[in-house]
Amino acid sequence: MRRDTPLAYGFVTRVFHWTMACLIGWQFMVASGWRVFGDSAVMKTVSLLGPSHRAAGALLLALVVPRAMWAFRNRCQRPVDHGVPGTSARIVHVMIYLLLFIVPGLALARTYANGKGFDLWGLRLVPGAGHRIEWLTGMADLLHAPLAWGFAVLVTGHVVMAVVHTAVLRDGLLRRMIGTPQG
Ligand code: HEM
Ligand code: HEM
Repeated sequence: MRRDTPLAYGFVTRVFHWTMACLIGWQFMVASGWRVFGDSAVMKTVSLLGPSHRAAGALLLALVVPRAMWAFRNRCQRPVDHGVPGTSARIVHVMIYLLLFIVPGLALARTYANGKGFDLWGLRLVPGAGHRIEWLTGMADLLHAPLAWGFAVLVTGHVVMAVVHTAVLRDGLLRRMIGTPQG
């Protein structure tokens, strides 16, 4: 089933969800590695195992646009939970979407504003401004990391709730996102 239904998320939503979850996991693994190991040989080896932080971030920004459009198109036929837990989950999902635009968007805007631009796999993805735009680089320097760590807290809460639903409440919620509807 390609589209979502009230019982489960469809194939397209699931592919978006798990592909982006892996990329986000990678982003935070690399960012945590910077914190612990700095720019050492360990991180140089780790960086060979996956895309660069910039490339994965740009890919996430490119994926969140069709994902948000797909979610909007399926909004009336997705699984819905009522009451406070359902509303809280929806608020967290909307915040996740917003941060998936803002966090990489700010970082890419910085590559424009610092005049360097950004090439990905030989393609000029973001041109350089030609001169430094202080307010924009300043804003990205100030906000990219704290917003990204805030995003990490939100995603951790989301994952913890998925585990609680599965292991404690045993209501089959996770099955909606792995492709076997509740029976
Ligand atoms: C959803 C996508 C992204 C996530 C989750 C993310 C996450 C993070 C995190 C957590 C840090 C802080 C590391 C620390 O505290 O030491 C960071 C730093 C950084 N990120 Fe990203 N990032 C994303 C996208 C991007 C993109 C697209 C670029 C570049 C085009 C980028 C460039 C940087 C740079 C240069 C730093 C170090 C300077 C700073 O802290 O602002 N990031 N990122
Ligand atoms: C790591 C980054 C993750 C992000 C950014 C994320 C984001 C989202 C979003 C936005 C939704 C709403 C549906 C949609 O629009 O796609 C969702 C649903 C869901 N996610 Fe995640 N997710 C992540 C990881 C995980 C993990 C690791 C699990 C399981 C352990 C998980 C379990 C679920 C479940 C069960 C739902 C359906 C919830 C419901 O029907 O109310 N997610 N996720």
